Amino acid sequence: MLQAAQVPLSELENPAEFAARHLGPDAADEAHMLSAIGAASRRALIEAIVPASIARSQVMRLPAPVTEAQALVELRGIAQQNQVLKSFIGQGYHGTHTPGVILRNILENPAWYTAYTPYQAEISQGRMEALVNFQTMVCDLTGMAIANASMLDEATAAAEAMTLAKRSVRSKSNRIVVAGDCHPQTLEVIHTRAAPLGLQVMLANSATEWDSLLDGGDYFAALVQVPTTDGSLHDLRGDAARIHAAQAAFIVAADLLALTLVVPPGEYGADIVVGNTQRFGVPMANGGPHAAYLACRDEFKRSMPGRLVGVSIDSHGNPAYRLALQTREQHIRREKATSNICTAQVLLAVIASMYAVYHGPEGLKRIAQRVARLTAVLAKGLQQLGVNVGNACGFDAIALHTGDQTEAIAARAEAAGMNLRRFREWGDTMLGINLDETSTRADVQALWAVFAQPGQPLPDAALFDQPIDSLIPPALRRSSAFLTHPVFNRHHSETEMLRYIRSLSDKDLALDRSMIPLGSCTMKLNATSEMIPITWPEFANIHPFAPAAQRAGYALLNDQLCGWLSQATGYAGISLQPNAGSQGEYAGLLAIRGWHASRGEGHRNICLIPESAHGTNPASAQMAGMTVVVVKCDSQGNVDLVDLQAKCEKHSANLSCIMITYPSTYGVFDTQVKALCQMVHDHGGRVYVDGANMNALVGVAAPGEFGGDVSHLNLHKTFCIPHGGGGPGVGPVCVVADLVPFLPAHRASGQAGGTCGAEPPAGHEVGAVSAAPLGNAAVLPISWMYVRMMGSEGLTAATEIAILSANYVAARLAGHYDIHFSGGIAGLQGGGVAHECILDLRKLKDSSGISAEDVAKRLIDYGFHAPTLSFPVAGTLMVEPTESEPLAELDRFCDAMIAIRGEIAQVEAGTWPRDDNPLVNAPHTAAAVSADDWAHAYRRSEAAYPLASLKAGKYWAPVGRVDNVWGDRNLSCSCIPVSDYADD
Ligand SMILES: Cc1ncc(COP(=O)(O)O)c(C=O)c1O
Repeated sequence: MLQAAQVPLSELENPAEFAARHLGPDAADEAHMLSAIGAASRRALIEAIVPASIARSQVMRLPAPVTEAQALVELRGIAQQNQVLKSFIGQGYHGTHTPGVILRNILENPAWYTAYTPYQAEISQGRMEALVNFQTMVCDLTGMAIANASMLDEATAAAEAMTLAKRSVRSKSNRIVVAGDCHPQTLEVIHTRAAPLGLQVMLANSATEWDSLLDGGDYFAALVQVPTTDGSLHDLRGDAARIHAAQAAFIVAADLLALTLVVPPGEYGADIVVGNTQRFGVPMANGGPHAAYLACRDEFKRSMPGRLVGVSIDSHGNPAYRLALQTREQHIRREKATSNICTAQVLLAVIASMYAVYHGPEGLKRIAQRVARLTAVLAKGLQQLGVNVGNACGFDAIALHTGDQTEAIAARAEAAGMNLRRFREWGDTMLGINLDETSTRADVQALWAVFAQPGQPLPDAALFDQPIDSLIPPALRRSSAFLTHPVFNRHHSETEMLRYIRSLSDKDLALDRSMIPLGSCTMKLNATSEMIPITWPEFANIHPFAPAAQRAGYALLNDQLCGWLSQATGYAGISLQPNAGSQGEYAGLLAIRGWHASRGEGHRNICLIPESAHGTNPASAQMAGMTVVVVKCDSQGNVDLVDLQAKCEKHSANLSCIMITYPSTYGVFDTQVKALCQMVHDHGGRVYVDGANMNALVGVAAPGEFGGDVSHLNLHKTFCIPHGGGGPGVGPVCVVADLVPFLPAHRASGQAGGTCGAEPPAGHEVGAVSAAPLGNAAVLPISWMYVRMMGSEGLTAATEIAILSANYVAARLAGHYDIHFSGGIAGLQGGGVAHECILDLRKLKDSSGISAEDVAKRLIDYGFHAPTLSFPVAGTLMVEPTESEPLAELDRFCDAMIAIRGEIAQVEAGTWPRDDNPLVNAPHTAAAVSADDWAHAYRRSEAAYPLASLKAGKYWAPVGRVDNVWGDRNLSCSCIPVSDYADD
């Protein structure tokens, strides 16, 4: 052994230390796992599993890894290149104070941010209660009947409202009338989304144009912004009748803080209301993430997009939450789904709902009244200074006619540390000032100083304390109550708030308690050092439309991350704009569509999709105006090349692309993937490789090298952004060189298409797919930290250990369960799988009556979140252990699964009846197990502590099995009336 003094300093510095923190198994564990599988070495295992034909030609060129401390210092240097000015830009993004109790106990708390989408209702009651609060808050403030549990951003919510209207109204028109004073990013995304669907956007650039288009009657929907992008409030009370007379829908994009003081759209006939909740405690963060909302009239509910949380009952008849009306969603209805949304913005919706809980209706009103008062005082002072204040009616913003002084005044403001709104799209002769919760008297005085002529005295500070009325016209003032439910009126002290937040997170099972072995979802470590930078003010307090120079740090972060992801994927160009995997798919398909059109082949619209595909694939294809043709898979889970050949030939003239997932959602490395890509290329189509499974590829194979033309990544899987209970995500879209010009642009913020600056041929621009140019910018530091600390070797090791761990689970469970689609590789216990393995329970259902769902629920009694249930094959469980789980946790999971197999054997043997055993009655609540009556065929201890190890720390499901059907039949999606909780 070396003496301490002989150990080289470079080794003591241990720059690659983080990899060992990220990876669960150590060298000894690895040796044990390999021997259980029967593989000679990790390399030998990978070579047996991953086809040699796709192996990377060279290692990824990434910077050498650094420690957590060094990475934080380096990233701080990047962050400091951002310049945080006071932003009065508005345009849908506002300063806000995140209450400390929410910041620390939700945004910075892994119990909230590492949770998964609440598919398993029984272990998700806490976050679903918070989401029901969100839905109730949105319904109350907008005056609408039903609201969903978040949208990706306001602009995409408006676009989804457009398609919801198209599906729901009687009008057969293909035209939507859109007020020109909506936020520019909303207009741009509406245009992007309308084009492939053949919808025509009729822009109304004045009140006269609006009136004449409405009176013309040829439209299926009309959209307005409240207040308008320049801050005005218009009286819209007469518009609903005109729009309804045309059998069209009235869509209002509304600011929620304004709605605490202004008549809600539901009270003047709106059919759909959208907007965002960013200013409810969520930092601006260069545009995202934050939760948008969509609310609608009751008749539209079965057609609405996005996740919806509803109230149902559990097996004991008690109220319980679960996801409602899932039959609308992409994972069930695929290309007929109401939208492609899968990951949404749950963590941010939770924060916004908690902001409303903490402040309550009176607190929110006080904030809004303060903002409105300061705005009125600001306007009055500016008028005294002789400034031409444009809008007489408004809430929190004023627009000033500044003519040829516009540039000079904006520059003066910037020099004084303030950003004002420019209206370049309207000729650049106005400036806007939007106040918010953070605005103060000092801000108003500083603004006056910017507009005062040299030597001109400033308005008297006494103005602040005069009884100046807000700019909201009396006829438009809200009189109706909102947020009357006790939850919004009882947690206003910090002690109560802290305990309320804790009581909800205690109900849920997140990664901070146990492994979440969800196949296709990659619930790996979200390291604390990766999370820390997201709340740094230099990242959190930047307005997305601040001048580019102030966002230099974000630009650098974007460049570096895109470069690294390009190394990982083998693609030439990447855009980080899409704010979920589904949006990346959509952007990728638009790139393919744009490329075909630019070559005069716009008719190519057939999208081939294997039957194993994730539901977002066909749903995205439909949104991109494509027709889905399903391709069969063979008995090994590979795409059936004979069927593919036939479909390629049949649709050759119209073939747009194929969408495959690699390795497939069956957990299979298709050995023929290169031939598959060639076949599609030979017929003029392009190959979309869904990159959600990049966890099994990084460092080992690159889709851009083996035949893919486009991929999206799920940074919220492979690159460590936490799932947040169902979002935020980031879905970068990656393309080969000739598709770079067709990456999403963002003209509203002056950004051209493509990361390389390549311009698409005239007439073939792909517009913005998200409201903000960098989508969910604020979570990008997480992936940056991960790559920076792991380096090329660490990332490759992560992939290999993910594959090793899945094979270890398969090896341990092979004697107890059928492993579906195993590779049948001789000598490998478990047969060889990719990074996930599918346990087939269908035969057990026949022999015992026990279903995959029963096993999933029984795992809760063992302290685990279930693996993915019945996807991609009904009656199976798909296990993805990831590289981050230690061997001890993998064994704990395997022990649980083996014990459950023993329980199934007892049912098979007739020891326990098919209708009364620990599996069909799972999960067991503490109340059920400790009840005075116990009439079951098994013992209480068998119900609660099936393994002795559980006695050391037991997770109790707060509710029994939730009844989904009851919930959909008796749909209720807002806070449970207190009376429902009364003791019997
Ligand atoms: C294979 C696959 N593709 C696409 C997606 C969609 O990603 P997102 O949920 O971020 O929209 C998922 C998500 O689970 C997936 O597993």
